[in-house]
Amino acid sequence: MKNAIYDERYARPGLYWGSRPTALAREVARIARSPLRLPRSLVDLGCGEGRDPIYFARRGYRVLGVDISSVGIRKAKQRASRLGVSARFLVGDIRTYRLARPADVVFSSGALNNIPRRLRKARFEHFKASTKPGGINAMNADVPKPYIPPQTTNPFASPFRSGELLGYYWDWEILDAGQGEFISHSGGIPHRKAMDVVIARKPPRPS
Ligand SMILES: C[S@@+](CC[C@H](N)C(=O)[O-])C[C@H]1O[C@@H](n2cnc3c(N)ncnc32)[C@H](O)[C@@H]1O
Repeated sequence: MKNAIYDERYARPGLYWGSRPTALAREVARIARSPLRLPRSLVDLGCGEGRDPIYFARRGYRVLGVDISSVGIRKAKQRASRLGVSARFLVGDIRTYRLARPADVVFSSGALNNIPRRLRKARFEHFKASTKPGGINAMNADVPKPYIPPQTTNPFASPFRSGELLGYYWDWEILDAGQGEFISHSGGIPHRKAMDVVIARKPPRPS
């Protein structure tokens, strides 16, 4: 089933999330600057209006942005073309979307909570299997905390348990992981949120 909330948000003038890339995207770009780690292809799952794919494409990545909102994808394509940036975008559902070929980076910011708990194990297995040896997964997910009043404007969101995201990467090298709290303006009402973040590297192929 489709989540119409984001179509409505993205149909408004301007960029709902702004043009500045997410902290997660900036962190991945920083890690990837190391000469030993040269990611090339990147898939952004739940890319919205494309701020992160456009940021990566400007840094030389071959980028594919996927989102369930056709309105968001249309805006992402228009913005990329206006900026003269080469990036591919397609409408797809991260609950079922299968990467056609392995990527160097599988990335998702703010979207994974739309994957229901019963599907997550299989979804993460697919994301990991669709990452090249030595490649990176960079992900975040909202986590409920008993001391933060729950507030979600997205009826499709299902919470990750604190630490759950990290657990999917038990067999990869953890480059960065943690939990942060911040004020989210999603839905137009500022509210406190806690979020888990993981950047993990798939073991290189044994030589
Ligand atoms: C909080 S927004 C984040 C957007 C983008 N990552 C950013 O930071 O600008 C969550 C995004 O997930 C997308 N989304 C929700 N459910 C989805 C699904 N099942 N498949 C693909 N995208 C989905 C929404 O359309 C929305 O663009």
